[in-house]
Amino acid sequence: MMVHLFAKNQQLKYTTIKVVLALAVIFIFTVPLYLLTCTSSSPPWLSFTNHILNPMINFGNSCNIFRGKWIYYPNGANSYTNLTCSEIFDQQNCMKFGRPDSEYLKWRWKPTNCELPLFNPVQFLELVRGKSMAFVGDSLGRNQMQSLLCLLATVVYPKDVSSAADRKFKRWLYMSYNFTLASFWSPYLVKAIETEPNGPIYDRLMNLYLDEANPEWAGEIETFDYVIISAGRWFFGPQIFYENRQVVGCHLCHRNDIENLTMFYGYRRAFRTSFRTLLTLEKFKGMTFLRTLSPAHFEKGEWNKGGQCTRTWPVSKLEMKLAEADLKLYWTQLEELNEAEKEGNEKGLKFKLMDVTEAMVMRPDGHPNHFGHGADENVTIADCVHWCLPGPIDTWNAFLLHVEEDNARKLRMRMIENCE
Ligand SMILES: *[C@@H]1O[C@H](CO)[C@@H](O)[C@H](O)[C@H]1NC(C)=O
Ligand SMILES: *[C@@H]1O[C@H](CO)[C@@H](O)[C@H](O)[C@H]1NC(C)=O
Ligand SMILES: *[C@@H]1O[C@H](CO)[C@@H](O)[C@H](O)[C@H]1NC(C)=O
Ligand SMILES: *[C@@H]1O[C@H](CO)[C@@H](O)[C@H](O)[C@H]1NC(C)=O
Repeated sequence: MMVHLFAKNQQLKYTTIKVVLALAVIFIFTVPLYLLTCTSSSPPWLSFTNHILNPMINFGNSCNIFRGKWIYYPNGANSYTNLTCSEIFDQQNCMKFGRPDSEYLKWRWKPTNCELPLFNPVQFLELVRGKSMAFVGDSLGRNQMQSLLCLLATVVYPKDVSSAADRKFKRWLYMSYNFTLASFWSPYLVKAIETEPNGPIYDRLMNLYLDEANPEWAGEIETFDYVIISAGRWFFGPQIFYENRQVVGCHLCHRNDIENLTMFYGYRRAFRTSFRTLLTLEKFKGMTFLRTLSPAHFEKGEWNKGGQCTRTWPVSKLEMKLAEADLKLYWTQLEELNEAEKEGNEKGLKFKLMDVTEAMVMRPDGHPNHFGHGADENVTIADCVHWCLPGPIDTWNAFLLHVEEDNARKLRMRMIENCE
C-alpha cells in the first residue's frame, strides 16, 4: 500500500511505514466507530426537529446562517482543484481517484433569511493577519483545515513549520500575513490512554480522563487567537471513564465491576473540560468555536456491512434525518457551549457556534465513498464520514469567515460608538 501524502512536497519522503500505519489506524478508527451502538433495529434517521433558530444561542439581530438549504448553481466553479492544492490527503481526494460525477460541486448554501458570501481568501487573510488559529479534534477537524489550506492556496501557500513529522500535529506559517495555522489531533479532547496498545483496532478500549484536557493541545493552546473544537465518532467506542483519577463508569466495557454510563456522559464532560480549560488558562485571550457534529451517511447497510454513500445530489431535510444518537450528541455539545458562553461573557472570552450539522445532513453526496483511496488499495469499507475536497465541507470555512467577520464588524461599531 502506497500512500502519497503530499503530491508536490518531496520533503516528506520520510513517510515511513510507521506514518502510513498510523494513518491507517487513524482512518480505520474514525470510520467504523460509527454505528457501533446504532444497531439496525433502531431507525437509522430520526427527526431532526430543530429547524428554527436555536433558542439557546443568541444570534442578536443577525441572521442564523446555519439554517437554510442548498441551491443548485450549474455554472458554479470551484475555487480549487486537486491540481491547485497539493495538501489534499488521498483519503479525501475524490477527483484524483476518479469520482466520475461532479454535480456535488455545484451547490451553494443559502441561509433562509440572508446570504452566506462565498469564501473570500483575501478577506480571510486580512482578518487573521498577525494571528493564529488551531483546529482541535479528530480527522474531521483536519479535513476542515485542509479545506481552508486549499481555499487559501488560491492566494498564497504557507510554509510547513511543524516541529515533527507527525501528521497529527501540523503547523503552517503564512509568512506575508504572519498567520499561523495549526492542527492538534485529539479525538477525545480529554486525556486518553489505550488500555491495550496492541489490541484489536476496531474495538480498542480507551481510558478517558474526563476532567483532564489532553495536554497535547491544552499545553500549546494558550497563545492562539482562534480555536476550533470538535469531536464525534470516537465516542461511540468502548471506554472507561475516570474523574479525579478514579474510575467512575464505562461505556461498552463489558465489566461487571464498573457502572455502565452512556457515551453522552463522556461526550458532555469532554466538552465541559475543554471549554473550562480554555476559560481558565491564564494567558488565553482567543475566540473559541464549537464546530458541531458532522453527520455520516451510510446507506444500505452499516459501515462494516456494505454500507455506502453513492448519492450524487443533496437531499432535503425531510428526506434524511439526523440519527437519534447524533442528535443527542449535537444537543449535548450545544448545551456545553451555552454554559461556556455564559462564563466566557463574564471573563471577556468569546465562545462561538459553528453549526454545520443541519447543512451537512443534507449532503450525503459529499463523502468520498470509495473514491478516497489509492486505486491499488483493497477498499472494502466506504468512507461516508469524511468529506471530499473540494466539496460541501468548504462551506464550513465560509461559516468560519462569516462569524469572524461579524465579530470584527461589531468590534468596529463599538469603537465608533465609544468615540462619539
Ligand atoms: C487530479 O484529478 C485528475 C482527475 O480529475 C487526475 O487525472 C489527476 O491525476 C489528479 N492529479 C493529482 C495531482 O492529483
Ligand atoms: C507574528 O505574530 C505573532 C503572534 O501570532 C507575534 O507574536 C509576532 O510578533 C508577529 N511577528 C511579526 C514580525 O509581526
Ligand atoms: C452493563 O451492561 C452490560 C450489557 O448491557 C451488562 O452485561 C453488565 O452486566 C452491565 N454492568 C453493570 C455493572 O451493570
Ligand atoms: C479484499 O479484501 C476482502 C476482505 O478483506 C477479501 O475478501 C478480498 O479477496 C480482497 N480482494 C482483493 C482483490 O485482494
